[in-house]
Amino acid sequence: MGDLSGKVAIVTGAGRGLGREEAIQLARQGARVVINDIGIPAAKEAAEEAVAEIKGFGGEAIAVYGDCADTNDAQNLFKTTLEKFGDLNIMVNNAGFCRDKTIFTMSDEEFDSVVRVHLRGHFVNMRNATAYWREKAKAGGPVYGRLISTSSEAMLFGSAGQPNYAAAKAGITAMTMGAAQLMIKYGITCNVIMPRARTDMTNQGATAAMFAKPEEGFDVFSPANVAPLVGYLASPEAGHISGEVFIVWGPRVTVVQRPTIDTHYDNPKGGKWDVADLHQSLSGYFTKDHTPVLDGFSVPPQ
Ligand SMILES: NC(=O)c1ccc[n+]([C@@H]2O[C@H](COP(=O)([O-])OP(=O)(O)OC[C@H]3O[C@@H](n4cnc5c(N)ncnc54)[C@H](O)[C@@H]3O)[C@@H](O)[C@H]2O)c1
Repeated sequence: MGDLSGKVAIVTGAGRGLGREEAIQLARQGARVVINDIGIPAAKEAAEEAVAEIKGFGGEAIAVYGDCADTNDAQNLFKTTLEKFGDLNIMVNNAGFCRDKTIFTMSDEEFDSVVRVHLRGHFVNMRNATAYWREKAKAGGPVYGRLISTSSEAMLFGSAGQPNYAAAKAGITAMTMGAAQLMIKYGITCNVIMPRARTDMTNQGATAAMFAKPEEGFDVFSPANVAPLVGYLASPEAGHISGEVFIVWGPRVTVVQRPTIDTHYDNPKGGKWDVADLHQSLSGYFTKDHTPVLDGFSVPPQ
């Protein structure tokens, strides 16, 4: 079950946090793993340690440094993977960072840098992987491809303190669902995870206490709890699961329903609406008692 022997995986941002656990999980299932992380000394050291840990249990891994959102670095990551391991089968986009501010205080740089690392970081690596798999399929050869993207629950209800991050994660989800539609005919799956875990990213401010390690018992927010789902989605057994979104943490995996249509209103007079008719029709749904929703919780109308 979950055997990935002979398969080759890239995990971006895999020196630390969730990416590291995911890389180790894939290696334990038999995949040869390429650990990507940014080329700064601390990240390089972490990536080397992850490679050593994998080699320690008899797995195969290399580290390739570079910015996940840079076209040339992503190309180098992809080419080095093919040169060293001869194939690419599993592309896990995971790398990223946060620059949290409210919408009224966020700078252009804070917005651009977070959208770049997450959304563009997913895009360039998804493009390389999907183009490679498509070419292989068109050439008639066997192709095994699994794309796993990392989004966040921050995009589900809007995360008021993270407009840059929530927007990037929404973009990632939409982009992955689109890729799933295109790739399923080649037998390639594309799925999205929304994890929760105690990592450098969450180990700050109020979140740190929320995700703290319990003194005893099951460590609900250990990043190791997320990795098995990545291992499963990468496996042959999950070949029929694509275009799906999963929340994953602790002992729970939640399958997220796509946004679905609730109800339709057609103009009772036919043709183009006017404002008064819209008000008349929509007031049946949005009654005076209707409360706007904020971050999953109802708030009184302003
Ligand atoms: N931790 C959570 O609760 C949580 C929740 C939702 C989503 N996520 C997502 O999970 C992913 C992993 O986050 P984490 O919590 O493990 O954080 P983390 O900070 O522990 O790990 C992020 C890794 O990405 C690397 N990285 C940063 N910028 C990079 C770049 N330009 N190129 C290559 N590598 C880069 C970092 O060096 C680090 O190793 C992120 O996409 C994050 O948004 C995490």
